[in-house]
Amino acid sequence: MNTEKNRVVIFDTTLRDGEQSPGATMTHEEKLEIAGLLDEMGVDIIEAGFPIASEGDFAAVSEIAKNAKDAVICGLARANFKDIDRCWEAVRNAEKPRIHTFIGTSPLHRAIPNLNKDEMADRIHETVTHARNLCDNVQWSPMDATRTEEDYLCRVVEIAIRAGATTINIPDTVGYTAPVESADLIRMLINRVPGADAVVFATHCHNDLGMATANALAAVEGGARQIECTINGLGERAGNTALEEVVMALKVRGDIMPYTTGVDTTKIMNISRRVASVSGFPVQFNKAIVGKNAFAHESGIHQDGMLKNAETFEIMRPEDVGLSETNIVMGKHSGRAALRAKLNELGFDLHDNQLNDVFVRFKALADRKKEVYDDDLIALMTDEEANADLNQLQVKFLRVICGTEAPQSADLTMVVNGEDRQVTATGDGPVDAAFNAVRQIFPHEARLQLYQVHAVTEGTDAQATVSVRLEEDGRIVTGQSADTDTVVASARAYVSALNRLIVRREKTGPGSDRREISYKDAG
Ligand code: KIV
Ligand code: ZN
Repeated sequence: MNTEKNRVVIFDTTLRDGEQSPGATMTHEEKLEIAGLLDEMGVDIIEAGFPIASEGDFAAVSEIAKNAKDAVICGLARANFKDIDRCWEAVRNAEKPRIHTFIGTSPLHRAIPNLNKDEMADRIHETVTHARNLCDNVQWSPMDATRTEEDYLCRVVEIAIRAGATTINIPDTVGYTAPVESADLIRMLINRVPGADAVVFATHCHNDLGMATANALAAVEGGARQIECTINGLGERAGNTALEEVVMALKVRGDIMPYTTGVDTTKIMNISRRVASVSGFPVQFNKAIVGKNAFAHESGIHQDGMLKNAETFEIMRPEDVGLSETNIVMGKHSGRAALRAKLNELGFDLHDNQLNDVFVRFKALADRKKEVYDDDLIALMTDEEANADLNQLQVKFLRVICGTEAPQSADLTMVVNGEDRQVTATGDGPVDAAFNAVRQIFPHEARLQLYQVHAVTEGTDAQATVSVRLEEDGRIVTGQSADTDTVVASARAYVSALNRLIVRREKTGPGSDRREISYKDAG
């Protein structure tokens, strides 16, 4: 039964909470693209960023607001007038704007701005009133609600409602709660707080104990009608509730959870791949709904059952989440039109010039690798984006000498701001030698935080996707690349991360008028 009462609003915060995850930074264009995809797939509310955090955040939220078609566009603001004004400036051009303001209400969080309970209550009243005077759609969140004393939580929620908040979000900021508690907390607030029936209660869960999806669904049972979530569960630490998980759980288990969303689930795979690609956070193979193995039936018994009746082991169809039934293999005889059609199906919409470039790379790959699968094309596109020509650093030539005798050596030529530079470096293994060569050509202090290699498909001719995460002065960036040669992919991923670091330095370095503020700073 589809009534207003059982419609659950999907609030996506991939571009705010997800993007704040260290290393997941997206470019302006990438944010616009993801916002467009979220809007198209029927997400009700897009939290587009934290406008006061930086000029970049402000510009992205403003432009997303201007371009939005159906979705409400929301910006985040701490509990002060300056943040709220800046947020309003960014979202006001949206057809449906929302201001989301918050303050930490648990004892630990109250200590940060050093406010006692009464002072904090006053602050909440003033700031929500201010936001509501600007915008008639205001969301208020008591950060760390699940560790806030119940009586105090009821008190501040009531104040926010009286001040004009239209949505009350109850965050489990540190991923501490459990499903029964999550349902009880929302139920308790709806029963106890005067005026609660006039607002929407939202749930915002983090996944530190692996319970974010269960907690969000339990909160809905308790009366919440807005779920805050991110694509692929992207987010700090263990991430946020995954959009695809809650949406598919509600769809598949409508028998016991009679709630609906407005999300077109066939768009899930496409946006999942795009978010993985632009954030540099690959999806784990066995991740629910969007993992590479989520619909793979490898064991003999399973395959036999599947051939007789797909429902034997499948509770949802691959098509329901936008996975094409066939993984048509492309090869060196495939033409430009076939490549374009396949890339469209995989969610990449290319201009003619881009298609020409990609076609050349596709042919080179098909020469090296007999069969080119969907995953190979996705890896190729990811690499194409990460290593675009406009980057300051590019790998031009790499040859490594490796074998049982150490040290291994790498002969590397890189283009640095249009000029070729060449070095030979040694190292403990070919990747170490290649990275040392990059460091000689482009000296830097960044620390390698993560180096990860995945085989894209099976077989010894498979491409390797490499992810590299670097940290410098608190700035964290991720680079990715794919190639049938793991060492080449490694060097290119490293250089792609350096290119992102250069951009971040320009935005946030000394002398820049841009600044970065964490949403965890005291309001
Ligand atoms: O986790 C959290 O508490 C948040 C708030 C800013 C809503 O992300
Ligand atoms: Zn959060």
